[in-house]
Amino acid sequence: MAEVVNVKNVGLRGVTVADTKVSFIDGQKGVLIYRGYRIEQLAENSNFLEVAYLLLNGSLPKREAMAGFEQEVLAARQVPEFVLGSLTGWPKDANPMDVLQASVPLLAMADPDVSEDTREANVRMAIRLIARLPILVAAWHRIRQNLDPLTSDESLSHAANFLWLLHGKKPDSEMARDLDTCLTLHADHTFNASTFACREVVSTRAHMYAGVTAGIGALSGSLHGGANSQVMKMLLELESETDIPGWVTGRLDRGERIMGMGHAVYKTMDPRARFLKDMARRLGEKTGQKRWHDLSTAIEKAGLEAFAKRGKTDIQPNVDFYSAPVYHIMGIPRDLMTTIFAISRVAGWCSHIIEEKFAEAQEKPALYRPKAEYVGQYCGLMGCEYEPAEDRK
Ligand SMILES: CC(C)(COP(=O)(O)OP(=O)(O)OC[C@H]1O[C@@H](n2cnc3c(N)ncnc32)[C@H](O)[C@@H]1OP(=O)(O)O)[C@@H](O)C(=O)NCCC(=O)NCCS
Repeated sequence: MAEVVNVKNVGLRGVTVADTKVSFIDGQKGVLIYRGYRIEQLAENSNFLEVAYLLLNGSLPKREAMAGFEQEVLAARQVPEFVLGSLTGWPKDANPMDVLQASVPLLAMADPDVSEDTREANVRMAIRLIARLPILVAAWHRIRQNLDPLTSDESLSHAANFLWLLHGKKPDSEMARDLDTCLTLHADHTFNASTFACREVVSTRAHMYAGVTAGIGALSGSLHGGANSQVMKMLLELESETDIPGWVTGRLDRGERIMGMGHAVYKTMDPRARFLKDMARRLGEKTGQKRWHDLSTAIEKAGLEAFAKRGKTDIQPNVDFYSAPVYHIMGIPRDLMTTIFAISRVAGWCSHIIEEKFAEAQEKPALYRPKAEYVGQYCGLMGCEYEPAEDRK
């Protein structure tokens, strides 16, 4: 029988709550591994759909299996008509993460597999979610501008099709390839807050869509996926700032955070940020927008110096720091940046949901149920005396 351990750890920091075979992080050395493969290898040689296959199935596909998987994703791109119809009635200034989060249960309502709790059915649902989240984001961006959503182009890759649906013009191939790499880099990250939310929800035997809905909610926060749009806000504010070190110091003196720096696990530079930094420079040079890379590196330098003066040498750029300028150069509006994180991370969420539901890394499925220490009003085990409203002072 498992040992009963009574510990109090606010925020579950450093507490191991499950086994996983999906991904691994060494936060001291800045290493991220998906199913055994280092993120650098995958970012350089693979592509997002192959990585999604790897995460969902545990091994890299042979050519034929990959072709089949790509075909399934392509065939799943069609979002049910009533879902797009619903979007047209929603407030045009709604936060795109709220729109995405609200749309996922609508997808569940139309999914024939939703009540079949087998691995195969869950993989089919995962494929639909991977295929449809980008379609929903792009459709919302069109609808909120009073434009009709565009039809997917079967000849375009996953990332290129998204850019086409968003902008209404065929994307530059290098930019589409770079967006695909961004999706690879964001696809999984062990037990981050949103993945944990997904796993916690499905541990009750709720379906995959319920888990992913929770994941999107958790991702939206500015300490998690929402940080990329906050980084962009910072960059736009600082565009005309001449004293970056002064701005950084002032912000820290006021107890404010430098968005996109620091990480709960990485105590060195996030390995994904390295890729994105280089991408921001390269894309910036190509499009005449290198100022965003230069501004970001100036904030990074000033931030590292200011943190070091405060004795904090482990607060370094994270994935959101350089993804913001990259997305901006790609023409992705600031309020859609976190949705890009979601259309990638959905691959990881679904892989973890499957692992959780089918106990693929541990003996049996868990039902997450931590404890809390009660520090509220207490009148003993008999409880406080209930006073009628008219007698209350
Ligand atoms: C991600 C983050 C929440 C992780 O931090 P954490 O490990 O949970 O640690 P804490 O939030 O407790 O921070 C520890 C200390 O470092 C400081 N700190 C951490 N990141 C900071 C940042 N980006 N700017 C300023 N101070 C920061 C905190 O203020 C705190 O200081 P204190 O000990 O004097 O109170 C944090 O680094 C952060 O808020 N970063 C900015 C948001 C962001 O980029 N999020 C995306 C993460 S991928």
